[in-house]
Amino acid sequence: MTIEAVINVDLGGPRINRHVYGHFAEHLGRCIYGGFYVGEDSDLPNVGGIRLDVVEALRDLNIPNLRWPGGCFADEYHWRDGVGPRDGRPVMVNTHWGGVEENNHFGTHEFMALCEMLGAEPYISGNVGSGTVREMSEWVEYLTRAGDSPMARLRRENGRDEPWRVRFWGLGNEAWGCGGNMSAEHYAHQARQYGTYCRDYGDNRLYKIAAGANGTDYAWTETLMKQLGHLGCRHISSTAYHALSVHYYTVTGPTWEEKGSATVFDTGEYYTTMAAAARVEEVLAGHAAVMDCYDPTGSVGLVLDEWGTWFDVARGTNPGFLYQQNTLRDALVASVHFDVFHRHAGRLVMANIAQTVNVLQAMILTDPDSQAMVLTPTYHVFRMNRDHQDATSLRVDFRTALPSRAVGDAALTTISASASRKDGRLLVSLSNLDASAPADVAIDLRGGAVTATDATILTAGLLQDHNTPQSPSVVAPRPYDGVTVAGGTLRVHLPAHSFVTVSGAL
Ligand code: AHR
Repeated sequence: MTIEAVINVDLGGPRINRHVYGHFAEHLGRCIYGGFYVGEDSDLPNVGGIRLDVVEALRDLNIPNLRWPGGCFADEYHWRDGVGPRDGRPVMVNTHWGGVEENNHFGTHEFMALCEMLGAEPYISGNVGSGTVREMSEWVEYLTRAGDSPMARLRRENGRDEPWRVRFWGLGNEAWGCGGNMSAEHYAHQARQYGTYCRDYGDNRLYKIAAGANGTDYAWTETLMKQLGHLGCRHISSTAYHALSVHYYTVTGPTWEEKGSATVFDTGEYYTTMAAAARVEEVLAGHAAVMDCYDPTGSVGLVLDEWGTWFDVARGTNPGFLYQQNTLRDALVASVHFDVFHRHAGRLVMANIAQTVNVLQAMILTDPDSQAMVLTPTYHVFRMNRDHQDATSLRVDFRTALPSRAVGDAALTTISASASRKDGRLLVSLSNLDASAPADVAIDLRGGAVTATDATILTAGLLQDHNTPQSPSVVAPRPYDGVTVAGGTLRVHLPAHSFVTVSGAL
């Protein structure tokens, strides 16, 4: 059976904010140290200690923003410990992640240099949980103030004359948990207070993001929206924060202690994972519905600043380092998320996968012994979807009932798709989540003709397949010839467990 769909390629739609392709780097495990940062004395090619091969690979993804320094770490991070001569920086204990010593060698200047190398905007998470209003306010001054002031002078003493531009500013992280165990009401007051003293210097304009809900905690979002307006529904007046975040991880397994292996899983576990991933649609729609009530014009942004798979750590690794392999299953989790992001382009202004290197659903894994770098299947999804950034989101309307299967109490639709238009080109992304059955899709392209198409496929023999330093291209994109365009219809054959992108000139 062929699945039929329609895309009106000439219709308007919301812009897919490029920041939904954002990233996250925390002082956790080997994300910063051994991942991004190897130190200036390393044998690996580096600039100021930042690993060049990692930067080069990530530049190909057009990373729009990088969130740092946490995560839970953000709420115990004191930025002054991470500036000035490195050998004079104090050592602290990273109590959240493995109890290891943190020497603060990667601090504000190193992070801003990394962002410049990546061509990414910084997204800094300030410390609300254990910091002070003054500390956060001074960090903003240190980073962004041009004139003569105590913090601008300190920055110059530390070698940076010109201020940096910083737009995205997080007011704490997971305030309901590791960020202070606060109630929503208490945190909302804190966010307003901290946000008030994060000033705009010169023409730098902060976009302040309040720490949002855990998954489906819509009451948290409602409290933050109420606090923005003080006046109730439909009266947004305050600018203490401009956006709310939410965190939603794809976690399965009977208990938190048994989330399941990243590489050893059966087909039932695979479908359970995909159903959990697809649930991000319900989560985003739920928070957006609450926000619509208080802010019908959509001026307050929704930011999913932590998402991705969370499995048991790889055997033999530090449980506090959250190191996991990345299989074709992870790639399909990512492709489904992006379809949802594209559909919610109206309210969703940013999303950040957790995390970029060596932690959770990473783009890049580095071997601690050989230092070899591996691109994961998830990396390739980001690469294949790159041109959706800042494109016009187009609806994909299915005319045929989509195949689905029962997963517990839920129904998992096994075909997922999204499309966009940019610079005279159409980009269609299609995922077949079925573990064993192929699918054929015929898309009626209305309102414009597509001429030549380029198609790319990401699949592998097994869902469990993954890349290692010894076999780095087991799961890698390849040119795909299972696509035709004739008479205004785009026909795509989707092998089982595959992700395909089709790009064509309009
Ligand atoms: O990404 C790992 C952790 O998950 C983050 O530090 C925290 O915010 C979340 O609970």
